[in-house]
Amino acid sequence: MIRLIYRWILVALVALLVCLRSSIALPQPVTITFMVIAAEAERLQILIDAFEAQHPDIHLNVVPGPRTTNDVEDLYTTSFLLGKAPYDLIYADIIWASKFAAAGWLQDLSPRISEAELAAFMPTDVAGGKVEHGFYWMPFRSDVGMLYYRTDLLEAAGLQPPETFADLVTASQILQQQGLVDWGYLWQGAQYEGLATVFVEVVKGFGGFWIDLAAKQVGLDQPAAIAATQYLRELIDQGISPPGVTNYVEYDTLRLFRSGKAAFLRNWPFVWTEVNRPDSPIRGKVALKSMIHAPNQEGGSCQGGWGFGMAATTQHPEAAWQVIEFFTSEAAQRQFVLDQGYVPTRRSLFSDAQILQKYPHYTQLLAVADRAVLRPPIRQYAQVSDVLQRYLSAAITGRLSAEQAMQRAARETRQILKWD
Ligand code: GLC
Repeated sequence: MIRLIYRWILVALVALLVCLRSSIALPQPVTITFMVIAAEAERLQILIDAFEAQHPDIHLNVVPGPRTTNDVEDLYTTSFLLGKAPYDLIYADIIWASKFAAAGWLQDLSPRISEAELAAFMPTDVAGGKVEHGFYWMPFRSDVGMLYYRTDLLEAAGLQPPETFADLVTASQILQQQGLVDWGYLWQGAQYEGLATVFVEVVKGFGGFWIDLAAKQVGLDQPAAIAATQYLRELIDQGISPPGVTNYVEYDTLRLFRSGKAAFLRNWPFVWTEVNRPDSPIRGKVALKSMIHAPNQEGGSCQGGWGFGMAATTQHPEAAWQVIEFFTSEAAQRQFVLDQGYVPTRRSLFSDAQILQKYPHYTQLLAVADRAVLRPPIRQYAQVSDVLQRYLSAAITGRLSAEQAMQRAARETRQILKWD
């Protein structure tokens, strides 16, 4: 009998221990979720690993998204509109900040970071995060539009790198006639945000503008904007750019340029690492410069870039802020730039010895980045850009004349901005 009692006591003790163990569970790591363009999610892996190694209590769930900024923005937008978005952070294009902040989806980060700390970042990047009186987007990596060209081909034909729009056309035609390339110039002409960035640069090069917020003016139906649109269309009509350019996004143009079939490419700085990879047929044969322009004008490089906003609905704001602090720190940016060739948002890194040793062209990049042209930071940005993309696409595919397209685009833009 006593043995039976002992056995029962033993069983009860074991059961108690099991219960206790499961109730004193070890703290689970907090998971922080955000979505990134698929190709970039792979590139970020080096920093994701570094972050998790330093923060064992925070797990990063990086969701690979679609391949263009518009498609990723649509997914984030839908999920915030439906409520219960699973995202703690929003890895956002510089142009989304105003809309997302105005919609109330982002937290104001200004209580977490001082103006003095922000002074270490490039002013054009910081400007992208400022909306009304708040700060909603921490710049992680910058972007500026660049002109890439094949040094070997220009040398072979005795040509200088182009300065003007006309120089680029002439050089392309010479190289094409000599049979050195199939195409002169590649750029992003699909109906998406990339086309708007191309336009911002060309219109600046013609001395015009898209939207002037201070003067409350839309410049799309002015002669410079019509000339810019006409120039893009003629590149295709004259066979300098392939007809397929009207469907190309960044990666399509990179692939064609890398295959050696074209002399010039407009793209972002990440292309530098891509064309110089060991398996690249054009490795060591490429240089870059600021954008071309009309005579007596200055070239414009569009300011792009990606950074972090914090979701208003996150349950883990402190952990989410630690992620932002880590990714935007000098050390993480240096590591990312060295590994992937992206552009930092911290000014000091443009003269960093390690970075300059690997990428001597960063000194040049700083000059280009300093003069970069911002797209209008307004909450209706997605709408006005959509109008521009639609009418530009109609003009470059020959469905409307440059003049008709830009007149209609100007009218619709004024309606959206209520500047009639
Ligand atoms: C790059 C830029 C971004 C821009 C996009 C257009 O990702 O960083 O600002 O909107 O290209 O495709």
